Amino acid sequence: MSEELDNLEKQIEEKISNTSNLNDLNSIRVEVFGKKGLITNHLKSLSTLSEEERKEKGKKINNIKDKINVLLIQKNKILNETEISQKLQKEKVDITLSSRPFNQGKINPITQTIAEVTKIFQKMGFETALGPDIEDDYHNFTALNIPEEHPARQLHDTFYLKGDNKKLLRTHTSPVQIRTLEKRKPPLKIIAPGRTYRADSDTTHTPMFHQIEGLFLDKDVNMSHLKGCIMDFCREFFEINDLPVRFRPSFFPFTEPSAEIDIGCFKDNKQIKIGNGGSWLEIMGCGMVHKEVLNYCKVDHKKFQGFAFGMGVERLAMLKYGISDLRSFFNSDIKWLNNFGFSIFENIEKI
Ligand code: PHE
Repeated sequence: MSEELDNLEKQIEEKISNTSNLNDLNSIRVEVFGKKGLITNHLKSLSTLSEEERKEKGKKINNIKDKINVLLIQKNKILNETEISQKLQKEKVDITLSSRPFNQGKINPITQTIAEVTKIFQKMGFETALGPDIEDDYHNFTALNIPEEHPARQLHDTFYLKGDNKKLLRTHTSPVQIRTLEKRKPPLKIIAPGRTYRADSDTTHTPMFHQIEGLFLDKDVNMSHLKGCIMDFCREFFEINDLPVRFRPSFFPFTEPSAEIDIGCFKDNKQIKIGNGGSWLEIMGCGMVHKEVLNYCKVDHKKFQGFAFGMGVERLAMLKYGISDLRSFFNSDIKWLNNFGFSIFENIEKI
């Protein structure tokens, strides 16, 4: 009798240790403890025994039952764990998408250049200001000391909108000077990037282009401040410490005196390179804000003076990044963009 139970125990133990999946383990449980299970049958048979035998056999069966239960729990745990790790292995997802060749957008050099210029002036304390692309005659011309019939109006090749109110597409970013002074009192330092429009289209002109305007008004501001500010900017933007910067007398109705700024350049293998080389390239217009402009904006010109400047973004981008054709900026040619565009990460670092 006792031997039979010992054998049964061994047999069950072996079966448990040989199973390799949860389903089989469950079948063993049923086979042992189910209604007609091997152990259950033995428990049932206890009733036919004498009290003495029942006690002895009952104890033995309960012992085996406990042992087998522990074995079943242990095995269940082991099989569960292996099943989970097998599942994880099988259902593994490769999330390293970046290594796959998917299309990454590029930043147009215009956007990149605006970000770079703005950042340099931001470090000097200039805040960004914006104005509308659709302007009126007053802000684009009159308040900038360009009265009607002034020849400068013809030079601007203005796009006028249909209608009686003489709305137009701004021909420069200078109206942002006026709009800012209507809202705020000096002292102030602003930089205003944006789109500008002129009815002109050839290899060196596009009807839409970008400018960045600067305005600095405070007490006791003079031409030497303008010169220092622009020289610092040019050298930092082109990353050339000894870049020659020249101020050439010029004329703008809204500045007096006015100047155009040239930077040093030279020809290298038919390509224009920026640096010390004996030739000059014009990159922006500037001057001390005209007192008529301050009058229009109700700023007391005896108390506050300042300077303004305006530069063309396309020109700066072409010179810095060796882009030879102005029109390529706006062609949306994906091959060109992949070549001359900037990655988003480069841009974040710069801004
Ligand atoms: N608005 C001028 C232009 O478009 C540039 C400029 C701005 C000149 C500010 C002087 C001062 O050419």
